[in-house]
Amino acid sequence: MHDAHHTIHYTLMICPLEMPLEKKEKGDCDVFGFCFDAEFRNTGLERAESLAKDLEWFKEQGHSIPEPSFPGLNYSAYIEDLSKKDPQAFISHFYNTYFGHSAGGWMIGQKVAQTVLNGKKLEFYKWDGDVSQLLQSVRDKLNRVAENWTREEKNHCLEETEKSFKFSREILRLILS
Ligand code: HEM
Repeated sequence: MHDAHHTIHYTLMICPLEMPLEKKEKGDCDVFGFCFDAEFRNTGLERAESLAKDLEWFKEQGHSIPEPSFPGLNYSAYIEDLSKKDPQAFISHFYNTYFGHSAGGWMIGQKVAQTVLNGKKLEFYKWDGDVSQLLQSVRDKLNRVAENWTREEKNHCLEETEKSFKFSREILRLILS
């Protein structure tokens, strides 16, 4: 079932994003020049829990939930690796994933609900509060953190966008297969 496929691979991709960046020394917020936990944890954009609920719902509808496979696992491992060594690249995936799913994804989610789910609103598309305000507040934090980056670090973050689209394309291809 494609919808279940869809959610499980998003779950894999999002979970590493919802873990804290690995720090060299416990409690040291300045290793990367910013404190990920303080700035980007509990933003209200987290989706792993709602995805788990959606998967449960798909299961109750009689769909089997497939085992994670290459595109999701591969992206997940990649992000986890970045979290240990490359904050600028990690932030690029953080931005693309949450903003992509919450802005464009929300619109796609509406269409999917109307056309194949008989209007069922998935948990993935429910937020506590106004999603555009949540996005704006995270956008402000991202801009604040990036103000302290060098031009090279900013370029590195921007260039990582290509990878973000590449991994997403692989997941999309799996959903369509
Ligand atoms: C089927 C493919 C896609 C469609 C149809 C789509 C559509 C959209 C639409 C309509 C918006 C604007 C929403 C708004 O302004 O309210 C949007 C925003 C966005 N999309 Fe996509 N998108 C797709 C794939 C992707 C992918 C693969 C990524 C990243 C990996 C991505 C990243 C983003 C980001 C970051 C934004 C928000 C920009 C911002 O406001 O800061 N999108 N998308």
